[in-house]
Amino acid sequence: MKLIKLLANLGYGSRKEVQAMIRSGRVTDAEGNVIGEGAPVTHEEIRFRGEPIDPPAPLTILLNKPDGFTCSSEDPGETIYDLLPERFAYRKPGLNSIGRLDKDTTGLLLMTDDGKLLHRIIHPKHGCLKAYHAILDRPLEGHEAERFGSGALQLQGDNKPLLPAPMEMLGEKEALVTLHEGRYHQVRRMFAAVGNHVVALKRLSIGGFQLPADLEEGDWRVLTPEELVQVLG
Ligand code: URA
Repeated sequence: MKLIKLLANLGYGSRKEVQAMIRSGRVTDAEGNVIGEGAPVTHEEIRFRGEPIDPPAPLTILLNKPDGFTCSSEDPGETIYDLLPERFAYRKPGLNSIGRLDKDTTGLLLMTDDGKLLHRIIHPKHGCLKAYHAILDRPLEGHEAERFGSGALQLQGDNKPLLPAPMEMLGEKEALVTLHEGRYHQVRRMFAAVGNHVVALKRLSIGGFQLPADLEEGDWRVLTPEELVQVLG
């Protein structure tokens, strides 16, 4: 791909702006030599203002979502896109979240520009399990795991029962819930259906991939190919 188009697709500027940046010498190789529009350099060698440029599509990132951020770029208020470099909003193809977390849900969120991968991870058919840690308002009564795991729990407004969702009690008011699907407010509505209320919810894992302990809330990084295998595994 031509350098101008490459940098414009990565969101560094419009084609015109990128052309001006190249002409003013802000695009170099790894040794700091200014490169021109037709230079035969690889993606890894290109530096913009001295920094390596972002990875090309297909790109998948992981984000430790904080409380108070919505997953839709159209929502008013703070969104997950505010946690990423501004240029990411101009990437072509753009990044979308793989499923959504509620505004007040925290934890592991994946974003990708690969539509096929997105579909593969969110579709219940592929069985990419998602695990959530829930803090509850009232003590668990002991019957919840059976109800959630039954495959017969029907939530208000839904036209079919939930797939079995294993639940492990972690404490008097604490549980780990594993979902095969991702219905609207699912964990919150499940606990509401058994007379409880979720006060805090955090996604801990997707497939076999756990939210890394060293990724601070609000931080993101590129998902490695090995981690993607764990997500799908
Ligand atoms: N279930 C919920 O209720 N909310 C989320 O954000 C994710 C799962």
